Amino acid sequence: MTALFQPFKLKDLTLRNRIAIPPMCQYSATDGVVNDWHRVHYPALARGGAGLLIVEATAVSPEGRITPGCLGLWNDTQAAALAPIAASIKAAGAVPGIQIGHAGRKASANRPWEGDDHIAADDARGWETLSPSATAFGAHLPKLPREMTVDDIARVRADFVAAAKRARAAGFEWLELHFAHGYLGQCFFSVHANQRSDAYGGSFENRSRFLIETVRAVRAVWPENLPLTVRFGVIEYDGRDEETLAESIELARSFKREGLDFLNVSVGFSTLKARVPWGPAFLAPVAERVRREAGLPVAAAWGIDNPVIADACVRDGQLDLVMVGRAHLANPHWPMHAARALGVERPTWVLPAPYAHWLERYAGA
Ligand SMILES: Cc1cc2nc3c(=O)[nH]c(=O)nc-3n(C[C@H](O)[C@H](O)[C@H](O)COP(=O)(O)O)c2cc1C
Repeated sequence: MTALFQPFKLKDLTLRNRIAIPPMCQYSATDGVVNDWHRVHYPALARGGAGLLIVEATAVSPEGRITPGCLGLWNDTQAAALAPIAASIKAAGAVPGIQIGHAGRKASANRPWEGDDHIAADDARGWETLSPSATAFGAHLPKLPREMTVDDIARVRADFVAAAKRARAAGFEWLELHFAHGYLGQCFFSVHANQRSDAYGGSFENRSRFLIETVRAVRAVWPENLPLTVRFGVIEYDGRDEETLAESIELARSFKREGLDFLNVSVGFSTLKARVPWGPAFLAPVAERVRREAGLPVAAAWGIDNPVIADACVRDGQLDLVMVGRAHLANPHWPMHAARALGVERPTWVLPAPYAHWLERYAGA
């Protein structure tokens, strides 16, 4: 019996297995609105058999987009266009999730395949970026953000709330707040990015304030019977990892007290000093510690594309869900590949009948 293909229940949802597709930006929208690319891409992934599919980072405000091609949920047109995508993911048997976020000082960038750097200052496609402090990330992202006022902070928190309501109205059932990867939420927490001396900077408590307030405000509008989750970089790999991890676990406990249901454990990516120990499932032991000490179910991504390793992560109690990203771009039927590799009998059952029938009946023919 595999662990990977056991169902997972959270609140009123039951995921058909432990495979989740993490948010992956497509950088292909116009004015934050989905188009034919997304209308084909998402259902195709969902039909592969994963239990959960989280739609890419979707900005809560125009300045919160990473690139001009990122999705948005700051108006009703964007929400209405997303609704058929949520429905198609659900019809394919996966739980439809969405990640909402604000890119902070990493916003106003070119698409990865068009440079991945900040849009030039004299280019009209760019915009003013916001961050807890007026410090740039550096390297390919040198643009100096404007330090947010307390009014800006309240406005962005309200933008998260409004986007959460629109996500629900569009039919999404799993909401992930993007507080990872050096974007706005991560920057409030990060000692590298946050140099404020007011109630939103300095001490651990103050650096946590924006994140906790936002979780609390979103929980108040997101249905109690559906999972509210956060993606958070619990570690930076910057040499002060034990301290960061201890603080992150304390923060996760606070999230839980505010009604958070699940944590998607990731890396901070808020400093160029990071030396990330890339390797298969390198985050799984870190996630296991967060799971145990914070008492929240967890997922993690990054290099878990080997089915045997993915299965072991769940079996050994390191992860509740395994996030499999790029392997799904390479093969939307990764769950069937995993089922075969794990010796699951009739592995084609993870596919819809119009595919499964032929693959099963004529296997090897
Ligand atoms: C094309 C692409 C876009 C991504 N966009 C997002 C995103 O929108 N939000 C996010 O939290 N992570 C994003 N990531 C990171 C992935 O969610 C995931 O953590 C990463 O791909 C590592 O998992 P993997 O090794 O299984 O691919 C993206 C990664 C890729 C490859």
